[in-house]
Amino acid sequence: MKRYIVFALPIIAIVAVAATIDLGQPDNYAAQTIPNYILKDNTPPNNLLTDKGATLGRVLFYDKKLSVNNAVACASCHKQQFAFGDTASASVGVNGTTGRHSMRLINARFSDERRFFWDERAATLEQQTSMPIQDHAEMGYSGQNGDPSINDLIAKMNNVWYYPVLFKWVYGDTVITEQRMQRALAQFVRSIQSFDSKYDAGRATAPADGPPFQNFTTQENQGKQLFLAPPQFNNNGIRTGGGAGCAGCHRPPEFDIDPVSLNNGVIGSFGGSTDLTNTRSPSLRDAVDANGNSYGGFMHNAGQNGINTLLDVVNHYDSIPADNNNLAPRLRPGGNLQRLRLTNAEKTSLVAFLRTLTGTDVYTNPIWSDPFTNDSLTLIPEPTAIKDAVANATVKVYPTVTSGMVHIDFPSVMTFTRMMIVDMNGRVLKQGYIESSVDLSMYPSGMYFIRLENGTMQKVIKQ
Ligand code: HEC
Ligand code: HEC
Repeated sequence: MKRYIVFALPIIAIVAVAATIDLGQPDNYAAQTIPNYILKDNTPPNNLLTDKGATLGRVLFYDKKLSVNNAVACASCHKQQFAFGDTASASVGVNGTTGRHSMRLINARFSDERRFFWDERAATLEQQTSMPIQDHAEMGYSGQNGDPSINDLIAKMNNVWYYPVLFKWVYGDTVITEQRMQRALAQFVRSIQSFDSKYDAGRATAPADGPPFQNFTTQENQGKQLFLAPPQFNNNGIRTGGGAGCAGCHRPPEFDIDPVSLNNGVIGSFGGSTDLTNTRSPSLRDAVDANGNSYGGFMHNAGQNGINTLLDVVNHYDSIPADNNNLAPRLRPGGNLQRLRLTNAEKTSLVAFLRTLTGTDVYTNPIWSDPFTNDSLTLIPEPTAIKDAVANATVKVYPTVTSGMVHIDFPSVMTFTRMMIVDMNGRVLKQGYIESSVDLSMYPSGMYFIRLENGTMQKVIKQ
């Protein structure tokens, strides 16, 4: 028994590398471990996470066929190795580049904020997911100015062999609709979670965020304290005590954005014009890589204002550069622009703390990886589906009057099913896996039956 298990393991490893989707055993998305200190959750009751739904979402997310030129997938701009963000400041779509920096999709589920995009223009994650498909620049199915529409995309998907199979598997029938695509994509995005950072290891054994974490350095604990504590200001907006007040807007332990936050004073857009509408930040978990570097610059304009490093971020809040009529009141204490006057040591501590929010698993875990190999997908059908397919298979046995050879045409799903040759007296003359031809020349003349595992039985006369 032990030897069998040892022998079986390498085979499993080989199967996993081949990037197949096993419909009989989908990956675990719905029952992932979520730390007990994580309480915020924007999952709507009518679209709970399921393994099947998230699996379909994964295929949609990586499928370039969802774009007009079959060259751009969601994953082209949301890359797993970059925290599902992009190192390009503006990402490349089917018709040009994006107007803002691609957002990381880490822990998108764990927030009070239900609206999505930097400017929160999508009311829900479900609605958000089909907007890039219908964006002229991003994936091109806008239905406007000569672009095909999402209905054209659905017609195209009906002719891609795996979509009818997958939609039936998830929803019970093969009908493809925009809403079903939205639900599956949103489930996949909500499944992308990261809770294995140094911060999480510390938080798991601490009673709350406030007390020093045992696994933190003194510097990291000082940075945490600065992140959490609100500042105190004098009448000129200059900090006289307290911390940097980051937690008021980026709220631990999820580090989600305060739903009523206005903008943070970063108001430049790619074109050089002013954009006051950006009031959302993705979770600050995995905002930087293991070396502390950003994924293509920070904020909606990807560092166009010179905010490329965590120290640049801290310096921005240290001295908010200019007022605007959508600036968050928190950053304008007593009508003055915030001046934190952090010391260099305090800035370094804050940066050290922000770096503790980065994990490792989410960057490589196969459940969020590309299921396609060279643009093609391999599905392993459910065992019951194999049975059904075998039961319904059409098999052709010919000729039925022969001097020797009989041919059997069968679909590949029957490859590992069995057949037998039985004589008129019910004696089994031969049995084994199905073969594409059998030779009756060694048998005496008479009547024979070729019986297949799916119940097909063909009478053959040997002359
Ligand atoms: C061409 C690049 C590109 C493609 C393709 C693309 N995105 Fe995005 N994505 C972006 C950019 C840029 C933003 C930010 C845009 C904004 O806020 O105006 C974004 C934002 C998002 C957000 C909001 C995250 C948040 O925290 O608010 C989600 C979710 C998302 N994309 C999912 C998807 C899905 C699902 C697809 C495929 C159907 C997709 N994206 C395709 C570039 C892209
Ligand atoms: C008043 C609310 C508010 C406060 C206080 C605040 N932020 Fe932000 N933060 C935001 C908003 C809104 C954005 C997104 C802005 C944009 O892209 O235009 C943001 C963006 C960021 C980003 C970039 C995220 C990304 O995906 O590029 C980082 C990092 C960040 N903040 C860190 C901090 C730190 C550190 C502090 C404390 C020193 C802090 N923030 C204080 C609201 C706030």
